[in-house]
Amino acid sequence: MDARDDGFGQLLLDCWSAGPRPHTFLQVIERDDGFVSVEDAYRYFSVPEEWVEPERAAVLRARGRVLDVGCAAGRHATVMTEQGCEVVGIDPSPGAVKVAAERGVDARPGTILDPGDVGTFDAIALLGGNLGLLGSRRRSTVALYRLATVARPGARLLAVGHDPYATDDPVHLAYHEHNRWRGLLPGQIHMRLRYKDAMSEWFDRLLLSPAELTRLLAVTPWRLADVVADRETGFYLAEMTLARQVDVLEHACAAACVSVHDYPWMDCQALAAEIDVRRRRPRGDGPP
Ligand SMILES: C[S@@+](CC[C@H](N)C(=O)[O-])C[C@H]1O[C@@H](n2cnc3c(N)ncnc32)[C@H](O)[C@@H]1O
Repeated sequence: MDARDDGFGQLLLDCWSAGPRPHTFLQVIERDDGFVSVEDAYRYFSVPEEWVEPERAAVLRARGRVLDVGCAAGRHATVMTEQGCEVVGIDPSPGAVKVAAERGVDARPGTILDPGDVGTFDAIALLGGNLGLLGSRRRSTVALYRLATVARPGARLLAVGHDPYATDDPVHLAYHEHNRWRGLLPGQIHMRLRYKDAMSEWFDRLLLSPAELTRLLAVTPWRLADVVADRETGFYLAEMTLARQVDVLEHACAAACVSVHDYPWMDCQALAAEIDVRRRRPRGDGPP
C-alpha cells in the first residue's frame, strides 16, 4: 500500500506526530449517494472517559489474550493492556500499525478475513464501530467463521456496532430504502475515505440493529449473549459467545433443509453422527 492509498494511516501519523488534540486533523467520509461527513482524527486517540458506554463496557469485559481487529492507533489496546490483557492488534493500514506500535501495542498487519499467524484468543474485539467490518450479509458469514478459527473454546466476541435505525434523518432513511430495493440490508454503507490528496477505494461498512445481527449469527458459530446499548448515540456493545460446533452444524442444516452428511466443507462425520442421535431421541427424553 503506498501513502496515497493509506490516507487513514497518514491521518493517524500526522495527528500522532503533532500531539493529538481535538479539531486539528479531519478526514472526509463520502457515501455513494453523495452524502459527505467529516470525522475528527482525535477520536482515535481519545481516552475511556470520552468514550460511549458500550466502548467502555467492551474493554472492561476483555480478559486473557485479546485480538483487537482494526486496532487503528491502539486506543483500546493500550487500555486493555493496562488491565492485564495480552493484546495483539491487527490493521491493514501500515500507518495505523506504525502509530499503534509506537504507542507500545503489539500491532501487526492483518485483516478480519486474513488475521495472519496470530495464534488463538480468549476474546476478539471489534471496537469503535468495527462490527461494521462485517461489510455485507454474505461477507459477515465468512468473516465470523474466520474469527472463530482464532477463538479459543469459551471465547467472547466483543463488538461495538451502530444501529442504523437510530436516526430520523430523511437522507439516511432514503439510503436505507434504496438498499432494501437493491436486496441489501438497509445499513450497508458503500463509502470511501479522503485525507489531503489520498483517497481510499470504495468499500462496504455494515450497520446492523441487534435484531439483524441475531439473524446473521444464526448460521455462524457465534451466539448473541448480551447487548449494552447507548440509546442517545445508537452505539451498542454486542457480546457474543462461541457456540459448540455441533450446534452450529445442526442449525445450518435445518436452515438449509439439507442433511448433515451433505456438508463437504467441514470434517463433520462425528458431528453428523451426534446430530443423528439427537434427532432419533424422542421429545422429552432427557436433556438435549
Ligand atoms: C472506524 S476505524 C476503528 C479503529 C479503532 N478500532 C478505534 O476505534 O480506534 C476502522 C479501522 O479498521 C481498519 N480496517 C479497515 N478494513 C479492515 C479489515 N478488512 N480488517 C481489519 N481492519 C480493517 C481501518 O484501517 C481502521 O483502523
